[in-house]
Amino acid sequence: MKQKVKKIQVINGPNLNMLGKREPQIYGSLTLNQINTDLAQQAKPLGLELGFFQSNHEGEIVDKIHEIFNENIAGVIINPGAFTHTSIALRDALLLLSCPIVELHLSNIYKREAFRHKSMLADIVTGQITGFGHYGYQMALNAVANMINES
Ligand code: DQA
Repeated sequence: MKQKVKKIQVINGPNLNMLGKREPQIYGSLTLNQINTDLAQQAKPLGLELGFFQSNHEGEIVDKIHEIFNENIAGVIINPGAFTHTSIALRDALLLLSCPIVELHLSNIYKREAFRHKSMLADIVTGQITGFGHYGYQMALNAVANMINES
């Protein structure tokens, strides 16, 4: 029987569309497009299809999560940007999902300002990857792929 391709949704929050230009000493020099292209390449041999979504608007991200709640999504990789530290709405939306969720940060949020040490999502996601730059996205994809294979 032909196996259905599993879909992983990658979500990036506010200001991440400015990667490459935005504080490169913290977030690196790759653009979000470059990160996504590399990730899509990595996903192919894993038999996974990736969906990419970026928004600077909290409600749009909540709407996207509602949309994927109605689809058969196998995993979510989310860099919520600054909404990490503030958004109960994002937390509540992610609680709808039963698939593995990786919370990802390019920078190590625990080495930075105190207001970044608190994540509204940390205790409801599967796990957190923080501080490995763009490589964190690859780590997150591997983690989700492993979880899917083992389930
Ligand atoms: C970030 C860390 C957040 O504190 C910050 O607001 C971001 C990016 C990261 O990827 O390191 O926008 O999520």
